Amino acid sequence: MRLRNRPEAEAFLREHPEYVILDPQKYNGQFSSLFPVKQPLRIEIGMGKGDFMIGMAQKYPEINFIGIEKYDSVLYVALKKILKQTPLPNLKVMCWDATHIQDVFSEGEVDRIYLNFSDPWPKKRHYKRRLTYHDFLVQYQLILKEQGGLELKTDNRTLFEFSLLEMNRFPMTFDDISLDLHHSIQMEDNVMTEYERKFSPNGPIYRLVAHFESRGE
Ligand SMILES: C[S@@+](CC[C@H](N)C(=O)[O-])C[C@H]1O[C@@H](n2cnc3c(N)ncnc32)[C@H](O)[C@@H]1O
Repeated sequence: MRLRNRPEAEAFLREHPEYVILDPQKYNGQFSSLFPVKQPLRIEIGMGKGDFMIGMAQKYPEINFIGIEKYDSVLYVALKKILKQTPLPNLKVMCWDATHIQDVFSEGEVDRIYLNFSDPWPKKRHYKRRLTYHDFLVQYQLILKEQGGLELKTDNRTLFEFSLLEMNRFPMTFDDISLDLHHSIQMEDNVMTEYERKFSPNGPIYRLVAHFESRGE
C-alpha cells in the first residue's frame, strides 16, 4: 500500500514527537524510556493506517505498542487517525523498513511481533520481500524476548502456507493455528485491522501464533 506522495507528510510527522519516534536508532535497547510506564513492548510491522495499533493500545493499556510503517505517506494517515482518539500514552509509531529491524531494536527487547495482512508479493522472484521470509525471521528471533510471540493474520493462503514453511525451518513452536479466524473462538479477542475489515467478507482469515524455541545469536 503506497499512497500518493504527500510532501506535507514528513513535516506533519515531525510536529508530533509525542507519538512519532523520529530517530529510532537512537533508542536501540531503550524504547521503554519513551513511554510513561515501563511495561511489555509489542510491535506491529507494516501497520498501514493504524487501526490495529489504535485498537490494541486502547484495549491493553498495560502494554506498550510501537507501530512500524515503511512509508511516511501511510504513517501520516495513521497519525491523523491516532490524533483523533483520546490520548494513547502507550502508543508510538515510526517510519522504518523492517528489512533493517535489527538495527533499531536490541536483543530481546520486544515481547511480541504482529504481522497483519503483510504484502503477499505473489511473484515468485519477489518471495524474499515477504515479511516472513527466512532473513526477516532471523531478525525477529533476535529482537524477541525468550518465548516472545509472533502473530500473523492474512487472507492470502499462499502467504500463509509460505510463512508456515519458512517458520518450520526454525526451532519454533506453533501455539495456535486457525484456518478461519472469524468463525473460531479466538474471534472473541480479535482486534480488526483495516485490511481485515475490507477483505474478511470475501473469504477466511488465516492466523497463526508461534514462538521461537530460543533466541538467535
Ligand atoms: C497490505 S498493508 C496492511 C496494513 C495493516 N497491517 C492492515 O492489516 O490493515 C501492508 C503494509 O505493510 C507495509 N510494509 C510493507 N513492507 C514493509 C517493510 N519492509 N517494513 C515496514 N512496513 C512494510 C506497507 O507499506 C503497508 O502499509
